[in-house]
Amino acid sequence: MCGIVGYIGDKSARSILLNCLRRLEYRGYDSCGIAVAGGSLEVYKDAVRVEELARVAPQLDGTAGIGHTRWATHGEPSPVNAHPHIDCSGKIAVVHNGVINNYQKLNRQLTAEGHSFVSETDTEVISHLIEKYYGGSLERAVEAALGEVDGSYAIIAVMAGDPELVVARKDSPLVIGVSDRENFIASDVPALLDYTNRVIYLEEGDIGVVTKDNIKIRRCGKEVVGQEHKVLWRVEDAQKGGYEHFMLKEIHEQPKVIRDTLGEYISAAEPEARLAMVTEADLEGMLIVACGTSYHAALAGKYILDEVVGIPVVVELAGEFAYFNQISAKTGAIVITQSGETADALKAMKRLKEVGCRVVAITNVVGSTASRLADQTVYTRAGPEISVAATKSFTVQLMVLYWLALSCSSVDIRRVDSLTMGLRQLPGKVQQVLDNEDKIKEYADYLSKCEDVFFIGRGINFPVALEGALKLKEISYIHAEGYAAGELKHGPFALLGANTPVVAIVAQDSAYEAMLTNIKEIKAKGSPLIALADEGDEVVKELADSVITVPRVDPIFSPVVNTVALQLLAYYTAKQRDCPIDFPRNLAKSVTVE
Ligand code: AGP
Ligand code: GLU
Repeated sequence: MCGIVGYIGDKSARSILLNCLRRLEYRGYDSCGIAVAGGSLEVYKDAVRVEELARVAPQLDGTAGIGHTRWATHGEPSPVNAHPHIDCSGKIAVVHNGVINNYQKLNRQLTAEGHSFVSETDTEVISHLIEKYYGGSLERAVEAALGEVDGSYAIIAVMAGDPELVVARKDSPLVIGVSDRENFIASDVPALLDYTNRVIYLEEGDIGVVTKDNIKIRRCGKEVVGQEHKVLWRVEDAQKGGYEHFMLKEIHEQPKVIRDTLGEYISAAEPEARLAMVTEADLEGMLIVACGTSYHAALAGKYILDEVVGIPVVVELAGEFAYFNQISAKTGAIVITQSGETADALKAMKRLKEVGCRVVAITNVVGSTASRLADQTVYTRAGPEISVAATKSFTVQLMVLYWLALSCSSVDIRRVDSLTMGLRQLPGKVQQVLDNEDKIKEYADYLSKCEDVFFIGRGINFPVALEGALKLKEISYIHAEGYAAGELKHGPFALLGANTPVVAIVAQDSAYEAMLTNIKEIKAKGSPLIALADEGDEVVKELADSVITVPRVDPIFSPVVNTVALQLLAYYTAKQRDCPIDFPRNLAKSVTVE
């Protein structure tokens, strides 16, 4: 969570840091702050959003500095708990992303040695440890300080009168933006796009010293040359482009990003473009691990692989994966993570590798930790996803899963051809859903007045029900539950009634008749029923109170069109309730703590 930035060059650091923080705010937004180092160190921080900080922060003079936008783990959001944190002398400042597990012990030790603490954060021990070990070299002091620390961190340290930034990472991402006579540091690439597209991804355990003309990185005690990469994302990709919210822009980008992702994989029909793992004959089965929306894509993947390839697939929540013991090295493992930095997903990946599994990562972020841990990485081509609520990343994860299924050599060539044709039509079908936006808004007006909503689906649309409910709850704060339609009668029926609408996702597949039965049962309990159904489905129109129609597609692709409709439903419901859609309370885009 949280975003950290650093700048060193010839320009005034203040405005550059604030601009970078604006771009990183999706990583945490409960408080923020900057520190600028010249001859002295000046810090300004508060429990406000970056926009407000930029408005009220005094002119801080200096051409080197650090900044932070926080997602609090230790201590409430408050001015004193906001980062940067300084030492007793007021000369050293640190920004930190992560969690220090042994901070209480370190705090006691340092207090006994005469350091006085002002915040409740775990982070503050780092600035005091650096002060303790400082003997003329900030780099050495940071290294010694981190030697005492147990936990996860990406940090930047700066010191008054010392024209350098010291950076280090362990289990939290950090990237250096390279430019001429100036360099940048950030937790994530979008923060840098206004200034440079040349980046160096720091690796686990790296410590670096960044000056305006030089970047020195030490890895396992040895100096290394950081490999420079060119970022393909454009500045516009990380801007709202005229939309009111990033979420709406990202929903509308889906025809394009589906096309981009399919273009990369489906048209590359050469066998070597296939996933190596699915061509290996000796696999006992497949395991897909993920969190949140990516987990819902994984669940849909289970149905896709089951139907198209006919192989057993197990899907686990990454956060629960640690509690299972029976993992075979002959399992083909896939980890799905948009950010490539989700702590639970990375922990699961490390465990899978320890067991000897071959791990494929499906991720959206080039250079992410997941991509570096994986044996093979398949990139989704969604471009930067800024909104905390995942939208376009989900649909392109599905595209990769369809491609993965089609890549399996056992699939009948006619089935491959018909599915490939269906895939090619998907951008147009998704556009039709987007064109129906005004109609979906009308249903959102109704839902915005409700406090509890159920989403139900069967088969491949069960994960869609889960995703529809997740979208609605995270941005509109309406209590929503996704259920397998057949499960409602095993308990949740007790909650149905006139004030509890049910959104039923109905596809023309083998679950159709059973869905009709469920709809009738729900109607009998008095719940208003909104159905999501194919445009030609007259039966559902008769049964439901209202119907959101989606274009007809092969049922295996129905999760794509249905989810896009539910994203719009959630978006307009949240908008009607005046919710901060891109920055929902208590959430952050990248969940880098367990
Ligand atoms: C989705 O809207 C959420 N913001 C969240 O569930 C997210 O999908 C989850 O944290 C997983 O993130 P990842 O794909 O980056 O690993
Ligand atoms: N653990 C630190 C804090 O609570 C950093 C949290 C973050 O990553 O934003 O301040």
